[in-house]
Order: sequence, then C-alpha cells, then structure tokens
Amino acid sequence: MTTHKIALIPGDGIGTAVTESAVAVARAAGAVLETTTFPWSCDHYLQTGKMMPEDGIETLRGFDAIFLGAVGWPAKVPDSVSLHGLLLPIRKAFVQYANIRPHRLLPGVEGPLKTRDFDILCIRENTEGEYSGAGGRVHVGTPDEVAVETSIFTRAGVERIIRFGFEQAMRRRGKLASVTKSNAQKYSMVFWDEITDRLAAEYPQVEVTHYHIDAMCARMVMAPESLDVVVASNLFGDILTDLGAAIQGGLGFAASANINPDRSAPSMFEPVHGSAPDIAHLGIANPMAAIWSVAMMLDHLGEAATAARIMAAMEAVTAQGIGTVPGRDKTDDITKAVLAALEGKA
Ligand code: NAD
Ligand code: IPM
Ligand code: MN
Repeated sequence: MTTHKIALIPGDGIGTAVTESAVAVARAAGAVLETTTFPWSCDHYLQTGKMMPEDGIETLRGFDAIFLGAVGWPAKVPDSVSLHGLLLPIRKAFVQYANIRPHRLLPGVEGPLKTRDFDILCIRENTEGEYSGAGGRVHVGTPDEVAVETSIFTRAGVERIIRFGFEQAMRRRGKLASVTKSNAQKYSMVFWDEITDRLAAEYPQVEVTHYHIDAMCARMVMAPESLDVVVASNLFGDILTDLGAAIQGGLGFAASANINPDRSAPSMFEPVHGSAPDIAHLGIANPMAAIWSVAMMLDHLGEAATAARIMAAMEAVTAQGIGTVPGRDKTDDITKAVLAALEGKA
C-alpha cells in the first residue's frame, strides 16, 4: 500500500465533523494516509488576520492531495474575505481547472426524484469565468454608485475544460451537454459555443447538445435521465451542482473533486456543501458527501479498489435506510454504519 501525504483543511462549521468521518472511513477501507491538519478557517482569521499564512499555497504544494471540509462563517467573517482567502486561491494556484461533481441517487435515498434513474457528471470550469475577481466599485455609497464584475474567459481556459468534458463523455455514455447563456451573453458564451463546436469535430463519437442554463435547470429536474456529462462555466456549474445535489437527495450527498489534470500540483477534494451554520451545532450533518469525496480522492491517487470499497459500503448503508433523510440520523451513527459495512457487518 502506498502512503499518501494528505493536507487536511477541516475549515468551518460541519466541515470538521464530515472531514473526520471521511478520513476514518478511508483508513478503515485500507488507505494509508499521512495527514497534516491545517486549522485554516474563519476562527483562524479572527486570531491571525489571515485565512491562511502567506506561504500557505507553497506549504500545500508538497502534498499528494488536499481534503477540505467547508469554508465560511458569514456571521463572523464576510464570505468575500473567507472564500477569497482560502478556497478560491487554492483552486486557482494549483490549476484545478476541472471541478468534477457526480449526481446520482444512492439506493434508498429519499429525495424529490427518488424513483428516477439518472447518472450525471457535472464538469465545472473552476479557475476563471465569472469567478475571475475582476471588477470594482465607483462612487461607493452614493446614488451614482456602479459595481462591475467582469467574467474572463480565455481560449486556453475554455478549450481545456471542454476537452476534459469530451474525454469524460468518451469514457461514459458518449453524450456531452454544453451549458451557456449565449442567447443573452453575446461575447463569452458565443465564444464557448464556437470552441465546443470546433472540438466536437475531434470527437465524432460524442453526441453534443447545447443548452441554455435556464433550460438546463428545468431539464435536470424534468428529464435527468437524458443527461450524461454536463460541462458548464464556473458560476453556472456552481448553481447546477446545488440543483444536482437536490435531485440526488440533498447537499449531504454531493461530492466534488477539484482536479489538476496535468498533475503539476495537488488536486483538492471536498463536498459540494458549505459549513451549514444552521445545523452545525446539532451533530446531524450527513457525512456521505465527504465520504464520497474521499473515495474520489483515493481513486485519483491510484487506489481504485479502495475507492470502490467505500462506495459499496455507502450504498449498503443507504440501502438500509440509514442517512437517507436529511437531518434524521446523527453524523456519528451514519459514520459507524459505513465503518460496519466496510467490515462486512452491513
Ligand atoms: P450550505 O451548503 O452550508 O447549506 C445549505 C443548506 O444545506 C443548509 O440548510 C444546510 O443545513 C444544508 N446542508 C449542507 N450540507 C449538509 C450536510 N452535509 N448534511 C445535511 N444538511 C446539509 O450553504 P450556505 O448556507 O449557503 O453556506 C454556508 C457557508 O458555507 C457560507 O459561508 C458559504 O459561503 C460557505 N460555503 C462554502 C463551501 C465550500 O467550502 N466549498 C461551499 C458552499 C458554501
Ligand atoms: C462551491 C461553493 C463555492 C463556489 C463558494 C463557497 C465560493 O459554493 O464549492 O460550490 O462557489 O465555488
Ligand atoms: Mn456551490
């Protein structure tokens, strides 16, 4: 078994509990993890004035992967400070341009689409677009105030994420849905459509369909079975993947992998959800999204069999009706059930 050096950033709120659960499950499944925990969070900001130290990125660079719980506690620190001080710079600095978010129903999970059978892989552009951070405000506080937030789409950035989407579609059911709003946004989104059409010629086996983001939202609810790989910009992908979480039974199930496909820097794995301040003190956070994310991390690190064991254990647990209804079961009980399933006791 290879030893993997993992940087753990539990972060805020339920991030701590779900990270602990996921790491325990990974170890019980046989992964050998040498973990280093970093206390970077909103509390850390209040103590030090920084979400992470100046050399935080360089420190993380030495790890095989990063596992993160959740960042943000808006009652203490504005999100514009906490997220731009930790999560978003990591994605950018390590060129984790492909954010992979799977949406399918585990057996027994209660949710609005529980009788349906879908398997969607959302690929979210993760380093530019609407999250470029370019803009500003003038005449602040006056009636003449103007706020500008510029989306930046580069040819290299769009090409690489769409190509990544095609490659995933080749490995799956051969369908790629490209999401834009090119009927209203005539520069960036028309550019995105053109690049998609040009790359499509290189992948004749893949069936490409263009959707507008509004129509895609409706389709994900009304006809999720029609979708295979969905590729979208940073903001559209963010929104679609909370919708994806909802159709798979809640944010407690939605996993994510921030991948650097070139492996020139560590990739980062984290649940789609945030710190959930409304339930953080109750011990009822669903750890499944974090456990699924840790399985994606192990898969990325070459431990496909261990990842598969974890997925099978999760499915054995949900099939028994444990952790399938948001807020009903305790984090610890769901974790214990997954650990028992790994030992073959489920
Ligand atoms: P959220 O995802 O934290 O919570 C939305 C809703 O989903 C809440 O009702 C919450 O209780 C529920 N929920 C989330 N995860 C759950 C789980 N594992 N089990 C059961 N229920 C769960 O979104 P929010 O309230 O908009 O954000 C809270 C904070 O987290 C903000 O600071 C936000 O910016 C931040 N955030 C961080 C990340 C991240 O670190 N990747 C992601 C999203 C939001
Ligand atoms: C996510 C989150 C983040 C994002 C926030 C917290 C900045 O919502 O990972 O989905 O928008 O990327
Ligand atoms: Mn989000």
